[in-house]
Amino acid sequence: VKALLRPLLGPPWRALKLLRAAGTLHRSAAPEAGDEALFDAVFACEPFRPLQKRAEFTALMARLRELKPALVMEIGSASGGTAFLFTRVAAPEATLILLDDAFGAARRLALRRFALPRQRIVTLRCDSHDPASLRRVHEVLAGRQLDFLFIDGDHSYEGAASDFSVYSPLVRPGGLVAFHDIVPDHASRFGRETVNRAGGVPRLWRELRQRYSSEELIEDPGQDACGLGLLRAAPFSPAGAPGS
Ligand SMILES: C[S@@+](CC[C@H](N)C(=O)[O-])C[C@H]1O[C@@H](n2cnc3c(N)ncnc32)[C@H](O)[C@@H]1O
Repeated sequence: VKALLRPLLGPPWRALKLLRAAGTLHRSAAPEAGDEALFDAVFACEPFRPLQKRAEFTALMARLRELKPALVMEIGSASGGTAFLFTRVAAPEATLILLDDAFGAARRLALRRFALPRQRIVTLRCDSHDPASLRRVHEVLAGRQLDFLFIDGDHSYEGAASDFSVYSPLVRPGGLVAFHDIVPDHASRFGRETVNRAGGVPRLWRELRQRYSSEELIEDPGQDACGLGLLRAAPFSPAGAPGS
């Protein structure tokens, strides 16, 4: 059994540790806890630590509590910390589609533990730019529309623009699309290399914010990357994609 499971889940003790950490976090953080407390809980949990700024992400959570999204999609879930926070502010019966090209099997199992009793979490290990990924998302949606789309995957200009043009038409009118890393990083601004990379997202954001109703959640305009950009779907259509 071990020989069969190992290639799927990685070393069993590591998979068990991840599953246990997910269960502990899930049980300890109810949706009724304040957004700051929820953020702090997941930030303190190293295997699921989100790559987000507290003030920015809790401001997004407040917008989502108003929206009460029943269908949520994240492109680029990485460790799953942001996905955990989305479960806490989404509708009690929400479906969350989490897409990442680097998901391991153990992480996919662990992230499914974050679902509240009536929620459903679908994890897709795939490249968002592969046409097969869009088909899989359509299968999950079964004719329904997204209420919220979070784009935090490929940070190249072309990659993020493609994610926007392919997936934003799935968002219902009045729904939200959010981008992470709309603030240029210090390497591009000052030639100072750090671990942060905003890539081509700031340029894409400058184009999109002119075309839609937009809001920026930025802690400090001088910061090194991060920053959340929100667009309200009016609706989006492929014709609204950059470069069209
Ligand atoms: C910046 S991390 C996401 C961080 C996460 N949302 C958070 O805030 O903690 C980007 C993730 O997107 C994934 N990714 C990059 N390009 C992708 C693509 N084309 N399709 C799917 N996932 C992609 C990477 O493997 C990585 O796990």
